[in-house]
Amino acid sequence: MNKEIINKILEVAVNAPSGENSQPWRFEVNSNKIHIFNLPERDRSLYNFGQKGSLVAHGALIENILITAPIFGYNAEIDLLPDNKDFDFIATISLVELLPDQQKNESLYSCIVKRVTNRKPYKNIPLSDEQLKDLKNVENEIGEGRVIFVYDPEKMKDIANLCSVNERVMFENKLIHNFFFDHINWTEKEELEKRLGFYIKTLELPSPVQFALKLFRYWPAMNLFNKLGLNKIIAKGNAVNYANASAMVAFAVKNNTSRDFIIAGRLMQRLWLKVTKMGLSAQPMAGMLFFMQAISGGETSKFSSSQIELIKNAHENVKKTFDINNEMPVMIFRVGYGGEPSARSSKKPPEIIFKN
Ligand SMILES: Cc1cc2nc3c(=O)[nH]c(=O)nc-3n(C[C@H](O)[C@H](O)[C@H](O)COP(=O)(O)O)c2cc1C
Repeated sequence: MNKEIINKILEVAVNAPSGENSQPWRFEVNSNKIHIFNLPERDRSLYNFGQKGSLVAHGALIENILITAPIFGYNAEIDLLPDNKDFDFIATISLVELLPDQQKNESLYSCIVKRVTNRKPYKNIPLSDEQLKDLKNVENEIGEGRVIFVYDPEKMKDIANLCSVNERVMFENKLIHNFFFDHINWTEKEELEKRLGFYIKTLELPSPVQFALKLFRYWPAMNLFNKLGLNKIIAKGNAVNYANASAMVAFAVKNNTSRDFIIAGRLMQRLWLKVTKMGLSAQPMAGMLFFMQAISGGETSKFSSSQIELIKNAHENVKKTFDINNEMPVMIFRVGYGGEPSARSSKKPPEIIFKN
C-alpha cells in the first residue's frame, strides 16, 4: 500500500472537530490497514468523562476517512473497537481498491477542510424543506442513530437557555474554569506552535470581552465577579446568541456504549459537512450534555449540589423539547447563516507509525 496515499487521506481526515480541539488520535499502519488509537491524555476534563467526547470526535474522524478514501481510489471498511481489552483502540480501517460501481462523494470531500465551528451570531433564516430533508437523510446514510430538528423560535430559545447552563457552571466551578483557561491560545504565535486548544479569535468575542477574559482567567477574580452574578450574565448573553439560529439539531443514540458515541460522531460530522456544503454554519452547544455524562457516571464530587441540580434539570428539559424519550442525546448544534468565521483553529499533522 502506498504510504503517501495513506498520509494524504489522514492529512485531510484530521480536520475533524474535537472537544477543545484536542485531536485525541494517533495511527498505526500495517499494509492496507489503518489502526486508530485514542490519546486519553489529550483531554481528561469533566467534559470528557469516560472519553465520551473523544469518542464523538473519533466518529467524525472515521466519517472523514470513509469520505476521503474513495477520492484516492480506495473503499474504506471499518471494524469498530476491534479489541475489547484495549479501550483506546478505536477502529481498524481496511483500504481496498474502489470498484467501478462504488461511489465517490467529491462535494462532501471538499467540505472536510472548509468545515469549521462558527461561534458568530447567525441570521435566523428558516431552512427550506429541501434542506431539512437532505440533512435528515444522514440517518439513512449512516444507518443508525437519530437526528432531531427544532425550528420553532420559542423552543429554540428554551434550548439555547438550557445549553447555556454550560457557561454558568463552567465559570463558577474552579476545576472547569481552570481547564478552560488553560486551553486558550491567546496569540496567533501560541496557536501555531501548539495547534491544540481554543484559539482566542475563534471564540468571536468583542475586544472588551477578550480583554476582560484576561482578568477572569484568574480564579479569585472570576470567583469575586461571580458573587455579582457574572457567570449568569455571560450565560444569558450567550443564550441570546445561540437562540438566533435557523434550527437546533440533536443527535441521539439508543445506548450509552462507546460504539454509540462513535456513531453519534459520524452522524454529526456528515450533517456538519452537508451544512457546510449548503453555505450554512454550525456550532455544537454540548457542554451541559457532557457534564450530565460525568454526573451519571458517578463523578458527582467535582460539582456542587446546586450545579448537579441545574445540569440534571437542563438535561431533562432538553430531552423533552427535542422529544427524546428512550434514547440518549449526545450532541446539540445550532445551525444558521453565520458568514465566514474570524479565525480557524489549527490542526496537527497526523501522527502515523508505519509498521511495514
Ligand atoms: C464532542 C464535542 C463537543 C464540543 N462541544 C462544543 C461546545 O459545547 N461549544 C463549542 O463552541 N464548541 C464545541 N465543540 C467544537 C470544538 O471546540 C471544535 O471542534 C474544536 O475547537 C476545533 O475547531 P473546528 O471545529 O473549527 O475544527 C465540540 C466538539 C466536539 C467534537
